[in-house]
Amino acid sequence: MLAQALLVVCALVSAGTASPLVARQSGVTVLSDAQVDVYTPYTYYASAAYCPGNQTINWSCGANCQANPKFVPIASGGDGDGVQFWYVGYDPSLKSIIVGHQGTDTSKLLPVLTDANFFLTDLEDGLFPGLDSDVQVHNGFGESQADSARDVLAAVKKGLSAYSTKAVTVVGHSLGGAIALISGVFLDIQIPAATVKVVTYGQPRVGNSAFADWVDAHLDSVVHITNKKDLVPILPGRFLGFAHASGETHIREDDSKWVSCPGQDSTADGCTIKDVPNILVGDANDHGGPYDGIRIGCKAT
Ligand SMILES: *[C@@H]1O[C@H](CO)[C@@H](O)[C@H](O)[C@H]1NC(C)=O
Ligand SMILES: *[C@@H]1O[C@H](CO)[C@@H](O)[C@H](O)[C@H]1NC(C)=O
Repeated sequence: MLAQALLVVCALVSAGTASPLVARQSGVTVLSDAQVDVYTPYTYYASAAYCPGNQTINWSCGANCQANPKFVPIASGGDGDGVQFWYVGYDPSLKSIIVGHQGTDTSKLLPVLTDANFFLTDLEDGLFPGLDSDVQVHNGFGESQADSARDVLAAVKKGLSAYSTKAVTVVGHSLGGAIALISGVFLDIQIPAATVKVVTYGQPRVGNSAFADWVDAHLDSVVHITNKKDLVPILPGRFLGFAHASGETHIREDDSKWVSCPGQDSTADGCTIKDVPNILVGDANDHGGPYDGIRIGCKAT
C-alpha cells in the first residue's frame, strides 16, 4: 500500500512541468468585482454547512448564518462524523432552495484522495434510476452523498412546493463540494422539473469523464471555485481516470483576481492545472480560502 501511495505521488510530480513565466491565454476571462460579489451568499452557505444540524435548523450558526439573514430553514441532518452535516432551506432574495453539504479538513481529505484505496464506481440504481452505467464516481464521495440523499430529497421537494419555485442551488466546500456535485446530479434526476445549479469551493475531482460530460450536459449551471495553490482540486489525478466538469473559476495566485476558465480541466494559464502542476507545489492552507475575504468553517456565535 505504501508502494502504491508512492507511485501515485511520483506520477503526480512528473505529471506537470512548472512554467514560471506565463502569458495570459485566450479563453480565460477576469471577473469584475460585481461578478465576484455574486458568489458571496453561496460562500457563506457553503461555510454554514460546517455547522451542526441543531444550529442550521433554526439558523443560529453565527456569522455564516447572519450573512444570509432572510434564509428560511426546512430541514437539517448528519452528525459531522459518519454522516456529513447538511441542511435545506429557502433564500427569498435568490428565490432558490439552498442545499448545503459539509466538507472536511485537508488532514482527513488528503489521505482519501492519495491513498490509492479508492476507485471509480457506478452510482446506486435506486437513487439514480436510468443513469448511464459508464458514469462513475469516487466510491467514498458516492457513499457520502447516499448517506443523506433521501432526507435531502424529501426536504427539497417540500421546499419547491411551499415556495413555488423550480430553482435549487447546491453548495459545498472540499468533500462537501464533491457531495454537492453528486447531490446536484441526484436532484436533477429525481426532480425533472427543477433547474439545478451547483456552486462549490476547493472541490476535488469527483468522477470520470462520462460523469463530467453528464454534468455539463444536464445541470443548469456548475461553478467550482479553486483558490490559488490549493492542491485538492488537482486530486485525484487525471491519469487515474478522473475529470473535472466545466465551470472552473480560479482565484489567481499572483493577483488574487477571479478568472473563469474554459472547458473541462482547463490547462489555460492562470487556472489550477497550471498554477498547481503537482501536489508538492500545492499549499494546503489555500484550501479553506479566503474566497473573496471569507474563510470557510463554522464560526462560533
Ligand atoms: C436554536 O435551537 C437550539 C436548540 O436546538 C436552542 O438552544 C437555541 O436557543 C435556538 N436558537 C434560536 C435563535 O432560536
Ligand atoms: C448539537 O449537535 C452537535 C453535533 O451533532 C452535538 O455535539 C451537540 O451536543 C448538539 N447540541 C445540542 C444543544 O443539542
